[in-house]
Amino acid sequence: MSDVKVNLRPNGPILISGPITLNDTQGNAYDLGGKETIALCRCGETKNKPFCDGSHNGCGFESQEVVE
Ligand code: FES
Repeated sequence: MSDVKVNLRPNGPILISGPITLNDTQGNAYDLGGKETIALCRCGETKNKPFCDGSHNGCGFESQEVVE
C-alpha cells in the first residue's frame, strides 16, 4: 500500500503525492492524468482552481508554517 504525502511548500502550494482521488464540490473526480503529484493552490490567485498555476510567485503570498 502506497502512502499519501502532503507537503506545504514555502510561499507556495500544497503538494500531494500518492494514490489520491480529488473530487470537486459535487463529488465529481478530477482527471489527474495519472500524475503522481499534484499541487493545490493556497494563495487564492490561481486561474486554474483548485490547482496551482504558479501565480503565487507574483502575488506576494507568504506562508511558511512550521511544526512547533
Ligand atoms: S499557490 Fe500557486 S497559484 Fe496559488
